[in-house]
Amino acid sequence: MAEPARADPPPATAPTPGHPPRLADDFANLRPVERVALADLLADPARLKARIAGRGRTPLIVTGVADTWAEPVRADPLGCLRARAHGDSVISVHRTPRGGPRRPGGQMTVAEFFAAVFDRGESARVFGLTTGHFPAEAVGAYRPPDALIGALPIRDRYFGIETGMLFLGNDAATDMHYDREWNDLLHIAVAGRRRLTLFAPDQSTALHKLPLISDSALDFDRPTPPDTLGIDQAIGYRCELEAGEMLVLPCRYWHFIEYIEPSAAVSYSFYTSRITWLFGTLNGLFYNGFSVARRFNEAGWFRRWGRWHARTRAKLRYGPPRGPAVAMLRAGGLALTWLAERTVYCLLWYPMLFFFLARYRGGANIYASKT
Ligand SMILES: [Fe+2]
Repeated sequence: MAEPARADPPPATAPTPGHPPRLADDFANLRPVERVALADLLADPARLKARIAGRGRTPLIVTGVADTWAEPVRADPLGCLRARAHGDSVISVHRTPRGGPRRPGGQMTVAEFFAAVFDRGESARVFGLTTGHFPAEAVGAYRPPDALIGALPIRDRYFGIETGMLFLGNDAATDMHYDREWNDLLHIAVAGRRRLTLFAPDQSTALHKLPLISDSALDFDRPTPPDTLGIDQAIGYRCELEAGEMLVLPCRYWHFIEYIEPSAAVSYSFYTSRITWLFGTLNGLFYNGFSVARRFNEAGWFRRWGRWHARTRAKLRYGPPRGPAVAMLRAGGLALTWLAERTVYCLLWYPMLFFFLARYRGGANIYASKT
């Protein structure tokens, strides 16, 4: 039976009690994410296709997804996940407490992590855990509903390999970013609530996007730096995703996720077009291969250059007019930055493109499987 549609609570823009004012609290133009019951969506295939795979799609929360889970998962989603985990498996844990300075991460076993987060309420976060730490069926138990997947023209992110990834944590916040691989996302909350702040790709200048990579130059979990232009003009969404609900997030949408209570979620990623898959895969290779291997994104020169680039773009767009000479100097600087970006892409990105085209020129069958 369809779950009745209900209004999302108004977005929280006031500072979170117990935390100093943060950049994430300075957004003035946030609206709620539309919620729709799974049964209502399935009853209207045209709407389903348009909202999840159509052009100009926006974020959507599908309620009632937990009703499709089998027993005993439906009765105790977190307990089943915990019981099935490889408890001795060692994972890398991030320490990013909300409103506090980032602390060095560490390693612990999956069993220790569950105890720290879900029993003792400590601040910790892990992301992107795959079946190395959980049996495939443990993650697969929370798969998106088959009826919904079957109605979509979607393609597996990694060509048929299980794509479910786990995101667990408490009292933590991520960086503001969009996914490097340009994939669409089905993010299913297994347990606990998490707060999401989302922006369309056209808000990149207001969010101070770094060049070359899909991160913001700003830390939205810290107080607002002086002279930060554009943030108050960014137009986005804020919502709290509850257990048993599924967020549908279009590709290249910015997201800042706060673990406001101990929570667990599973993500499935997919593509709706070959072009996005191709360029998204290349971009993912570029980021996860070259930039991570060389660590240039953490280098001091890159952060300084990136911050200058992001601030200048925001000033040109949102700042007060400063006269033609200053504007021309700034535009000239940005043009040089643009050239530098293109040079890096030409040297590294486009050769990868030819490699891919050569390897997969007859490879339409890689799209055959469906998530
Ligand atoms: Fe992400």
